Amino acid sequence: MVKLVNTFVCNSCGAIHGKWAGRCDACGGWNTLVEEIAEHTTGRTKPRKNGRGIEFTGLQGDTAPLPRMTTGICEFDRVCGGGIVPGSALLVGGDPGIGKSTLMLQAAAKLAMSGKSVVYISGEESVDQVRSRAKRLKMAKAPLQLASETSLGPIMEAIKSQRPDLVVIDSMQTLWTDALAAAPGTVAQVRACAQELTRFAKKTGSAVVLIGHVTKDGQIAGPRVVEHMVDAVLYFEGDRAHQFRILRGVKNRFGPTDEIGVFEMGEQGLAEVPNPSSLFLDGCANGTTGSAVFAGMEGTRPVLTEVQALIAPSPLGTPRRAVVGLDSGRLAMVMAVLEARCGISFAGKDVYLNVAGGLKISEPAADLAVAAALLSSVFDQPLPPKTVVFGEIALSGTIRQVSRTIARLKEANKLGFKNAMIATSEDKSILDTQLDCTIAKTNNLGNLVDRFETNKV
Ligand code: TYD
Ligand code: MG
Repeated sequence: MVKLVNTFVCNSCGAIHGKWAGRCDACGGWNTLVEEIAEHTTGRTKPRKNGRGIEFTGLQGDTAPLPRMTTGICEFDRVCGGGIVPGSALLVGGDPGIGKSTLMLQAAAKLAMSGKSVVYISGEESVDQVRSRAKRLKMAKAPLQLASETSLGPIMEAIKSQRPDLVVIDSMQTLWTDALAAAPGTVAQVRACAQELTRFAKKTGSAVVLIGHVTKDGQIAGPRVVEHMVDAVLYFEGDRAHQFRILRGVKNRFGPTDEIGVFEMGEQGLAEVPNPSSLFLDGCANGTTGSAVFAGMEGTRPVLTEVQALIAPSPLGTPRRAVVGLDSGRLAMVMAVLEARCGISFAGKDVYLNVAGGLKISEPAADLAVAAALLSSVFDQPLPPKTVVFGEIALSGTIRQVSRTIARLKEANKLGFKNAMIATSEDKSILDTQLDCTIAKTNNLGNLVDRFETNKV
């Protein structure tokens, strides 16, 4: 028996309630519950006729490799794990104006030109606007099927009859279905529309790309359940003041999640940056104090970045600690270890830390570079020219060797860096590797402080 049951969904967190209430129990938001008509089956479902249920199978067996649709934009394909998988749903999130529509229009047009049938539905821009953007991207000739629509009903009807290889929806927040009373962009609407579209993808084998905006605190607007529903979530990020954009995979059922794709926004849309290792170093001045070059890993690729620190006397009772591009908790920890283990005091001083180029570093391996930049500013001594620094600082003040040390050093070597300050374990494998690099063994934060104190950095 099918019975219609009304439920109440919170617009800000997506929690489902049986009754209306003025305040959501889950997130504490006031007046956020909206009514949603959901279909529920009650009572027992009929047992299958043969009564056998499901069949189990082993882990071994022949499985064909996943088919992939490659767009030809290598940076995009790589982040997807080698191309878009047919029948999968992909969510591309990012701040407004960062270039999501541009990226997906370029990818869709490339796929269309390679002979796939691609539908691009924009709920934010008119067909004319999309056309003029395509002209600017020099892709106006791509056989893309365009539409400007926000209502899910007609969209589903059209794509169910056409069954294209790829459907791009720009954006998820503009969609609405008349099955719900809630306004477009609300959690209930976004969730219902995303559910319908992912079901369509699974059923028909068409790939669906949903573009979603991100809220101020960096989450895709709408409930987290949308992230659970889709097969892959990619974030498009970057600093609008810089022309570089980074596509980062945060979830992928069909590939790795630690890959990044680097793009440069220019006159003709997004251009790929196939070798980004030196990109974020541009303009890095040698011999300035408070600067250290960090050799980090972004996915499988090493990327060199400049970490800058400035320490200034503070007129404030509670001095400022401002961080850009790094977790502020990480900076606090490095400063605490310097204070407690090495006697370097930051009391009464403002501390500013910046990662140049708009990159965000999340690796603990950056700890040593942060410490080196801070010490360089405290002692007003530059690090030796062409030096890379990396290592994870433990609370005891010891420095741990990090993964992929040789790959990092090789990349640094390639870019002309001849010195390295790193922690090396007892096994000599790193020192034996053929590298044109002088390694200053830094297994304890105390070593580094001593070198600054004795002017022998
Ligand atoms: P857009 O893709 O509309 O962003 P989103 O969909 O994420 O909101 O990108 C908008 C920005 O990109 C806009 O500020 C202009 C810039 N842009 C270029 O610099 N060059 C170009 O060729 C295009 C198409 C856009
Ligand atoms: Mg857009």
